[in-house]
Amino acid sequence: MFDPYEIRKDFPILERVINGRKLIYFDNAATTHKPLPVIEAIREFYIKYNANIHRGLHTLSQEASEKYEKAHETVAKFINAYSWDEIIFCSNTTDALNIVAYAWGLNNLREGDEVVLTVMDHHSSMLPWRNIAKFKKIKIKYVDITNDGYLKYSDFEKLITERTRVVAFPIMSNVLGTINDVKRIVKLAHEVGAIVVADGAQSVPHMPTNVRDLGIDFLAFSGHKMLGPTGIGVLWGKRELLEEMMPFKVGGDTIKDVTLDDVIWHDVPWRFEAGTPNIAGAIGLEAAIKYLQKIGLQNIRNHEKQLVEHTFKLFKEELGDEVTIYGPRNPNDRGGVISFNIKGLNHHIVGRALDSLFGIAVRTGMHCAHPLHYRLGLKGTVRASYYLYNTREEVEELVNALKFIVKQKENIEAIFKKDIEGIICPTG
Ligand SMILES: Cc1ncc(COP(=O)(O)O)c(C=O)c1O
Repeated sequence: MFDPYEIRKDFPILERVINGRKLIYFDNAATTHKPLPVIEAIREFYIKYNANIHRGLHTLSQEASEKYEKAHETVAKFINAYSWDEIIFCSNTTDALNIVAYAWGLNNLREGDEVVLTVMDHHSSMLPWRNIAKFKKIKIKYVDITNDGYLKYSDFEKLITERTRVVAFPIMSNVLGTINDVKRIVKLAHEVGAIVVADGAQSVPHMPTNVRDLGIDFLAFSGHKMLGPTGIGVLWGKRELLEEMMPFKVGGDTIKDVTLDDVIWHDVPWRFEAGTPNIAGAIGLEAAIKYLQKIGLQNIRNHEKQLVEHTFKLFKEELGDEVTIYGPRNPNDRGGVISFNIKGLNHHIVGRALDSLFGIAVRTGMHCAHPLHYRLGLKGTVRASYYLYNTREEVEELVNALKFIVKQKENIEAIFKKDIEGIICPTG
């Protein structure tokens, strides 16, 4: 039985009191909290078998190496990869996507080739290819969105041509919540021999992922967005593509042999895991995956869908046209990320008021998706993003808080205006 109230007991941070109110944490798309078993797995590593991996014949090093390798296996099974060595540990989604762009892109793209991206992309999916474009004189094309926040599949049909070598997009938008039709895009890309690079930062933590079924070529995701620690991320790639790739970060552990004239690269995945890796991070991520698997990814998906339905219903009933929601209205087509604005109030002011008066943590700004916000004609949005430990009551608290903010609009603006003047990156 899926029970968010039981699950919450594993997350001591949720007991925190923020500005006199019990914390309501709705910033899960930015990062998630860590349950006790994850914290314990990391603690155990440092207390019992801390050592560097692949460098020592002593017991601690062998134990650490075994656990680190086992973590690759757990991740591989989690996304139904063909084998453990298709899993590359890196620092986060951003790092994983840069590895594809630099290690695959620099070696495989030629002048005149084309890369198809989308206006919905997170900067981490978009900018690495833009950098490569500077080196390789390739052309970047962008798929647009519809007014209700879906990708325009007719654009993929138009923009993918014989020159297309890469198609990259998020499986789920971190702003609109849209869950994209991956298989439809894969079919179009593969018809012309292009590779598909899927950004799974928002999808992998929240729904079952099966890379074989999706048919994609690369998948990137972050441990910290799925109950794991920060500093550990995953790049999965099809073995034949990884085998062809040269590492772009090189040094310790990336080689089999080096002479002054030559180098023989290590097997995959080691040739891509340069230097001492985040061993504790990998062990923490493995514990997070086991925790998620025990609860069931489909159960998490269903729970978040219900929270979204509840939010939409209450927003409509209680806030009416005071609130504008962005992205698909059908909860089947979207995840638990809801971006919105309150009429006449700056998004940062709403965020500050939610935190200061109600202890509710949301993210405000452009969520590392500036082109998408410009496309929507927005300077920013308020984003509430849910996870397995959020409850219907918390959603109701958010709605009540927003009702108060709407009623007190002028006072709220006067009180919090000064707070946002000093924001370093007001577009965030
Ligand atoms: C869709 C998407 N892609 C990529 C990223 C980057 O993740 P990270 O900061 O862990 O590298 C994020 C983070 O918010 C995201 O939401």
